[in-house]
Amino acid sequence: MVKLLLEQGHSPIVFDNLSTGHEEAVPAELLALGDLRDKSSLRRVLAEHSFDAVMHFAAKSIVPESVADPAAYYENNVIGTLNLLDAMREEGVQRFVFSSTAAVYGNPVSHAGAASGAQASSSLIDEQHSLAPLNPYGRSKLQVEQALQDYAAAYGFRSVCFRYFNAAGADPSGELGESHDPETHLIPNTLRAVLGTGPQLKVFGDDYATPDGTCVRDYIHVNDLADAHLRALLHMRDNEGAHVFNLGNGVGFSVKEVLNAAEEVTGQPVPHEMAPRRAGDADMLVADSAKARSVLGWQPGFTDVREIIETAWRWHKDQRF
Ligand code: UFG
Repeated sequence: MVKLLLEQGHSPIVFDNLSTGHEEAVPAELLALGDLRDKSSLRRVLAEHSFDAVMHFAAKSIVPESVADPAAYYENNVIGTLNLLDAMREEGVQRFVFSSTAAVYGNPVSHAGAASGAQASSSLIDEQHSLAPLNPYGRSKLQVEQALQDYAAAYGFRSVCFRYFNAAGADPSGELGESHDPETHLIPNTLRAVLGTGPQLKVFGDDYATPDGTCVRDYIHVNDLADAHLRALLHMRDNEGAHVFNLGNGVGFSVKEVLNAAEEVTGQPVPHEMAPRRAGDADMLVADSAKARSVLGWQPGFTDVREIIETAWRWHKDQRF
């Protein structure tokens, strides 16, 4: 996002406690160290610059961890965000883009007979779908979404919530990509298993209500997510209120399909084993993103999971940090 904002002539500042972020990922002069749980550091940074908007990406975001340690999730994701919103109101910054998640939906209400892979799924989730998160992570994000509706009504606060489906891939340049310790996400774990820099891949559960029994997800490239955020800035310039958009490709891939695609992209076998289900996983999450397409004019550029894996492969082969 920072790279894109700079390319577009914006002047971003990055506020991060580096608990999971990497100093090397952003130009040093743009980095302000601080913690969302510490209001004074937020106020200081907001007061030092004249911001048009805040894009809030920082969160704890690992579903099984949220099941094991919900307190950390409510503290970082809910209290941390309310601190940020308070500080913004005090400093007169009234526009906010929020990284929400498909995890706010829970299991799709009707998904029987849905297909995966190249065929269109019959159970796409749109923004009107009921909100029934299966885990504390999803609940923490939903609570913020609800607060944003109230803030819009009471304070004229403008916001865009993006419900990301599965953020994946790396900058095609190969210079930026994901780097987590421990790594929990499917695509990096698959590629690390191929490279031998991680353990063999565990496929968590093959008895889900999906065509091949493994979980189906909608993988969306990080650069497509960044592009949507730019469009959100324009949208908030012209529109009051709190707006919610799904961001996904609208095509689901099962864990086994991702594994096969990774073998195609790398030309190497993915060492793997079957393992029990992981706590908090929904069977199938595939986005209907028609609203983002029609209202924001958003059009994902990476529509095939192979292309997404290719960018991640470029990064992981020569990971810089
Ligand atoms: N999986 C494996 N083995 C692994 C890692 C993942 O089988 O080593 C499976 C998971 O069980 C799941 C699928 O691959 O079925 C995708 O898992 P990820 O951990 O890559 O992603 P999640 O779907 O759990 O999480 C993502 C985002 C969350 C968001 C969630 C919505 O990271 O922020 O989608 O469910 F909340």
